[in-house]
Amino acid sequence: MLTDQDRIFTNLYGMHERTLKGARARGHWDGTAGIIAKGRDWIIDEMKKSGLRGRGGAGFPTGLKWSFMPKESDGRPHYLVINADESEPGTCKDREIMRHDPHTLIEGALIAGFAMGAHASYIYIRGEYIREREALQAAIDEAYDAGLLGADAAGSGWDFDLYLHHGAGAYICGEETALLESLEGKKGMPRMKPPFPAGAGLYGCPTTVNNVESIAVVPTILRRGGDWFAGFGRPNNAGTKIFAVSGHVNSPCVVEESMSISLRELLDRHCGGVRGGWGNLKAVIPGGSSVPLLPASLCDDAIMDFDWLREQKSGLGTAAVIVMDQSTDLIKAIWRLASFYKHESCGQCTPCREGTGWMMRVMDRLVRGEAEIEEIDMLFDISRQVEGHTICALGDAAAWPIQGLIRHFRDEIEDRIKARKSGRASAVAAE
Ligand code: NAI
Ligand code: SF4
Repeated sequence: MLTDQDRIFTNLYGMHERTLKGARARGHWDGTAGIIAKGRDWIIDEMKKSGLRGRGGAGFPTGLKWSFMPKESDGRPHYLVINADESEPGTCKDREIMRHDPHTLIEGALIAGFAMGAHASYIYIRGEYIREREALQAAIDEAYDAGLLGADAAGSGWDFDLYLHHGAGAYICGEETALLESLEGKKGMPRMKPPFPAGAGLYGCPTTVNNVESIAVVPTILRRGGDWFAGFGRPNNAGTKIFAVSGHVNSPCVVEESMSISLRELLDRHCGGVRGGWGNLKAVIPGGSSVPLLPASLCDDAIMDFDWLREQKSGLGTAAVIVMDQSTDLIKAIWRLASFYKHESCGQCTPCREGTGWMMRVMDRLVRGEAEIEEIDMLFDISRQVEGHTICALGDAAAWPIQGLIRHFRDEIEDRIKARKSGRASAVAAE
């Protein structure tokens, strides 16, 4: 459980000024040049020590990712690209940072850019984030005016430019290589990996792509020390984390908490508990729409970190917690996600292009109870054909919620089919 002093993000919800003056008053841009003077190796070692795992959803160790960037220049420029294309359904944590604490991100970009030998960085922001874009651009302009960006940024001796690039509303452009394609002015379609971006990224040059939250925590980690950050959460699941809780809780919120907090404490302490009480809980999607749901029976002991949730065949993902109470038509909820993924598939690989359509059409029939019982296994089988057989993670993301539904709520699907056959289709299913 975090105290107010432990929190990195002291201005979520905008209680204070988000301007440079306000940011400085909260300790940002304090001794930035001194951190940079400690050198690249020190910064990367400290990030490794912190145990920070990428906050975009995949949880890849950040310090390790930075260490993949070539140390010596072969003449190609190096780039830092910040993924602000926050589009995962249920996810709205980076939005809070960009709206109310933009200087944490800008200072983090300078330090991270230096550590990777990058003189230029791009923030790729979701097209729909119009107010966030304005807030961020205003903060970038302020930073340039104050000499914190540009030549000799923040008096560090390092030249560093930061550009804000607007997306155009495609979910797939949040996938790091599709994002790079889009930044280069091409259609946002994922590339095969390897090569990973550190070898050949933006314009074929060494590039690191990091999520907004991953970069925004960097200055505080380096000021307080990697060991300080590693002191929160369970081993291999270190740090503080922003959770975005939505759905059937009394007070949905975005809050920074310790990694490995229990689900129950997160909801009771910050969200006023589940609507109608804990006993009214039906299921939770713990990490944004790409991870399988947890039924209520697993929620009692749920620990909100990468490893515990993975052991339950779910995941922490973006830490967007979607709470669903007993009133929820789960089949319909997962059908809605299936139609989302079908819509957002870029279409370049067959299992995803065709599979998302198949899965959505079967889900369509399950929602109305019009399928045959055997089709439940067939749907599971289709999802296994998609999972792991595609260029990017969108295929997995489309398959996993369906697998979670079948794994934990098969009875509910069968009941609906049987009810339909016996002419007792529920009002919801008949809609
Ligand atoms: P990934 O596991 O393929 O990669 C994660 C990061 O680690 C990437 O930057 C990748 O380049 C790097 N990496 C992985 N293996 C590497 C290796 N061997 N060598 C060098 N670098 C390596 O996962 P991906 O596809 O980047 O992200 C999937 C996740 O994104 C999902 O779990 C989902 O939760 C999340 N997501 C988040 C969204 C958001 O709005 N924040 C939207 C959609 C998905
Ligand atoms: Fe495109 Fe889907 Fe293939 Fe990803 S998995 S590259 S979204 S078709």
